[in-house]
Amino acid sequence: MARGAEFLGTRYAIMAGAMTWVSERNLVAAISNAGGFGVIACGAMDPARLDEEIAATKALTSKPFGVNLITMHPQMLELIAVCAKHKVGHIVLAGGLPSGAAIEAIKAAGAKLMCFAPALALAKKLARSGADALIIEGSEAGGHIGPVSTSVLAQEILPEMSPQLPVFIAGGIGRGSAIAAYLEMGASGVQLGTRFVCATESVAHANFKRAFIRASARDALASVQFDPRLPVIPVRALKNAGTEAFTAKQREMVGQLDAGAVELAEAQLQIEHYWAGALRRAVVDGDVEGGSLMAGQSVGMVTKEEPAADIIGSLVAEAATALAERAG
Ligand SMILES: Cc1cc2nc3c(=O)[nH]c(=O)nc-3n(C[C@H](O)[C@H](O)[C@H](O)COP(=O)(O)O)c2cc1C
Repeated sequence: MARGAEFLGTRYAIMAGAMTWVSERNLVAAISNAGGFGVIACGAMDPARLDEEIAATKALTSKPFGVNLITMHPQMLELIAVCAKHKVGHIVLAGGLPSGAAIEAIKAAGAKLMCFAPALALAKKLARSGADALIIEGSEAGGHIGPVSTSVLAQEILPEMSPQLPVFIAGGIGRGSAIAAYLEMGASGVQLGTRFVCATESVAHANFKRAFIRASARDALASVQFDPRLPVIPVRALKNAGTEAFTAKQREMVGQLDAGAVELAEAQLQIEHYWAGALRRAVVDGDVEGGSLMAGQSVGMVTKEEPAADIIGSLVAEAATALAERAG
């Protein structure tokens, strides 16, 4: 983990991936204080709100943490300026290829740029464009997902990219043995989301945490695209009434597209807003029936609420045991 830990400035190269509504000051600070790397999920926050959240996180930890920004946010440059003001060391750009202007602003701010690489060709392009590290996230992950599994992406991308820059692996990691395996394959570190939702410090509603503790891997299903005319990024979540409501929402948007009532981009934006609202209802209000229970397949390995430091401690101990056993 040395290379990844040095890159992040942490004890362990274990990132807690940003989770909208979940990854706020409390969880982020707890992860960083435990030797991992917490990442604030900016989501749809405006610059003033992000400013407040970063300041509040800094009040809870003196350790490094990052900020995750979604590339389609309309106030991207203002958000980067807020990160620069707080001297945030690492900015993670999610949700599509970043613009040249965003990359330039991050570099000018002196922050390290981390990007999601969904395929080898894009990994190479991102490295050329100035990414300082890559995150590979497979389809086992919770939230918005790509079509390819973590194990296949790791095999395709690690041999080519890890000689050039640190690569972190995300999606489907539940135990330290998997961390050890990806490190052996050349990864510099890992990113987990699902495993941290039920940390004691996570502000997710008790109902949301209970749903995670009850669920098994097969409950975390990817959403289906209803109509090829309306491409929608699949989302992996626990199956509930909200899953059906999402299908109905897609049907409604296809109807509006057919009637010429909305443009394609607007229909896609409405779907993204739908997800953000549904996730908020589940995480914040505890509506686990109608809201969205975004969760990865590793949800089956979430069995109790426990402090972030204990989760990180178990992962590190399991990884060390796995590596020691292999070394004989
Ligand atoms: C509830 C939830 C919300 C998420 N929100 C975001 C987000 O806002 N931005 C992002 O880049 N990734 C998001 N993710 C993905 C995580 O950052 C992380 O990459 C992923 O959870 C790793 O896979 P795992 O769930 O199998 O551990 C989310 C995941 C979950 C479970």
